[in-house]
Amino acid sequence: MIVVTGATGNVGRRLVETLAAEGEEVTAVSRRITAADVPDGVRTVQADLARADGLKEVFDGADRVFLLTSGEFLAAGGDVAEVVAAAKDAGVGRIVLLSSQGVGSGRHASAYEEAVKASSPEWTVLRPGGFASNAFQWAPAVQADRVVAAPFGDVALPVIDPADIADVAAAVLRGSGHHGRTYVLTGPEPISPRRQAADLADALGEPVRFAELSEAEARAAMSEFMPPVVVEATLAILGEPTEDEQRVSPDVERVLGRPGRTFAEWAARNAAAFK
Ligand SMILES: NC(=O)c1ccc[n+]([C@@H]2O[C@H](COP(=O)([O-])OP(=O)(O)OC[C@H]3O[C@@H](n4cnc5c(N)ncnc54)[C@H](OP(=O)(O)O)[C@@H]3O)[C@@H](O)[C@H]2O)c1
Repeated sequence: MIVVTGATGNVGRRLVETLAAEGEEVTAVSRRITAADVPDGVRTVQADLARADGLKEVFDGADRVFLLTSGEFLAAGGDVAEVVAAAKDAGVGRIVLLSSQGVGSGRHASAYEEAVKASSPEWTVLRPGGFASNAFQWAPAVQADRVVAAPFGDVALPVIDPADIADVAAAVLRGSGHHGRTYVLTGPEPISPRRQAADLADALGEPVRFAELSEAEARAAMSEFMPPVVVEATLAILGEPTEDEQRVSPDVERVLGRPGRTFAEWAARNAAAFK
């Protein structure tokens, strides 16, 4: 049985659907998940991963785990080593960790990855770059004023569709030959915020204006929903990415046998959220 944490999020929801459609027995976990969030036949467990007392129920009967630790988990004092130990005690033999490309470039701490590597019999680390779904933050302004306001309008990064992260995770959870691997996951081409706005316009069939924010304006807006350390790391990636962060990684295509989906495809699939 496979446990999927973060099961109501951008990656986890799709991963649960994919694994269930492929006939896997799945337990979907988040703090507020209900049966309405998952396909028929998927077990749900409401649990806060930051609280050790609920972890036994989360991993009961599991042999594989997709592990996602959110910013809220971190803010609540969550200890990933405790989560990994509970999984191991329950008999889990394989953990696929959703990490971040920022760990490889030294922008984020590597403690989560180290905890998983130290304890899990089999492990695979997924290090995605920026998600296409970060564009959901623009939805209220696109709905109201048909405008995307963002900093560094012409700095292009190969944002990844969370559906591709889920597809890679499913392949790694179900397949063999991925133990000990760290995969950097990007989209198939670098794309700037200005071009993302143009792709959203195409998806909507209406003009969408791009308004460039100063770094200070962006910092103020991001600080409303991100801790300061994450704001600074994100601004650094968006404004002054390294060559590695701008480069398209071959790993999605290596694992899936096809290139990643473009931002335009993500925008077309999610246009309703911007209408
Ligand atoms: N966005 C990016 O550009 C980016 C780039 C690289 C890496 N990442 C990584 O990707 C992950 C986010 O993935 P996502 O976008 O799929 O997630 P998401 O849409 O933000 O959803 C977070 C999921 O985690 C659950 N959750 C949050 N706190 C929890 C807790 N304490 N205990 C149990 N469940 C909890 C949430 O459900 P409930 O609220 O019901 O608990 C939800 O299912 C993070 O680890 C982030 O570091 C993101």
